[in-house]
Amino acid sequence: KKIISIIGARPQFIKHAPVQLELQKHFIAKTIHTGQHYDAAMSDIFFKELKMAPPDYHFSLSQTQQGAQTAEMMIEIEKVMLSEKPDAVVVYGDTNSTIAGSLVAAKLHIPIIHIEAGLRSFNKEMPEEVNRILTDHIASVLLCPSQLAVDNLAKENIRDNVFLCGDVMKDMLLLAASFVGNKMGDRPYYFATIHRPYNTDHKERMSAILDAFQLMDAPVVFAIHPRTTKRLEHYNIDLNKYDNIIMVPPVGYFDSLSYQQYAKGVITDSGGMQKEAYWLKRKCVTIRKETEWTETAEMGHNILLFDKMEELPAIFTREPLADFDEELYGNGKSAADIVLKISQFLN
Ligand code: UD1
Ligand code: UDP
Repeated sequence: KKIISIIGARPQFIKHAPVQLELQKHFIAKTIHTGQHYDAAMSDIFFKELKMAPPDYHFSLSQTQQGAQTAEMMIEIEKVMLSEKPDAVVVYGDTNSTIAGSLVAAKLHIPIIHIEAGLRSFNKEMPEEVNRILTDHIASVLLCPSQLAVDNLAKENIRDNVFLCGDVMKDMLLLAASFVGNKMGDRPYYFATIHRPYNTDHKERMSAILDAFQLMDAPVVFAIHPRTTKRLEHYNIDLNKYDNIIMVPPVGYFDSLSYQQYAKGVITDSGGMQKEAYWLKRKCVTIRKETEWTETAEMGHNILLFDKMEELPAIFTREPLADFDEELYGNGKSAADIVLKISQFLN
């Protein structure tokens, strides 16, 4: 049987690495890279670091608007589906690559396997929330990282072929553990990433975030996503005054884990890093009003902050409320479990 996985954005390269290892043991397992992320630091580096074969198909997109970008991907994905005729497609998470692949597959009656199904932020202004809800409603197999995700689907009357399998990012984190050294020596620092439009796409908001970083009691290593770089250039903010911020381009996966592991704390609006910070037992402040990874927030390890950015330094002086749950979102064997469920579905 033949499976085609569709990936396109940074976190999807990371999620696909452990899944592809398992898929190729049982299937003809091909990969489409939609080209959504294209800079070497957002794409190539992960294929190299995680020792993934180059994708079988790799598009280059000319559009960046939400609708046009998704449409352009769909045109290219459909051509591949028509010629390859896979038995199923695998999609991950909630990006425009996810919905593009799902819509094409649904209309060609190819079963959709959705990895990281059932997540909800309940904020439909996020493009991701729309992408994940629609994908879940047309998927044939829904692989959930948590019981909460399973419950979310049940509330929307999605109950067939829903499986609790844990999170493949945990698999990848455990696989990577031995490659992660300490990049900063004894120097105390915080690690930050910001890329959500509601944080980057307003000058005042972006400035308030940088002002808060400037107030921290140790330097903030800020790995800047290309969306954010473009906004910063556009706003013409004087970055020289932020001498407490160490601004670096997007880093590789091992460096990202290293920066998180040895930091005094993590400051982010990333989905994946809320989980990684938790698994690495680092306090995380998430610069958002809500999170779909609610379990990380329940114990006080992940704290949401949005309006009062000046409270950022004080949050890190508070003690965590409880121990970490060692098996939150799985035990590192999710990819194998997921591929077993796919095999059972296709047989
Ligand atoms: C996308 C996902 C988001 C995910 C994030 C992971 C959607 C709707 N959003 O957001 O869910 O959390 O990826 O990082 O799918 N750009 C570059 N080089 C690149 C990639 C992007 O310059 O390699 C620039 C482009 O100008 C682009 C902008 O960044 O317009 C935003 O990229 P896009 O893929 O549309 O959304 P992200 O913010 O990356
Ligand atoms: N990441 C990385 N380099 C960076 C920032 C993040 O490798 O400069 C990794 C991070 O460790 C995690 C994943 O990228 O594994 C998260 O992706 P991102 O924040 O882009 O997307 P999200 O998870 O928010 O969809």
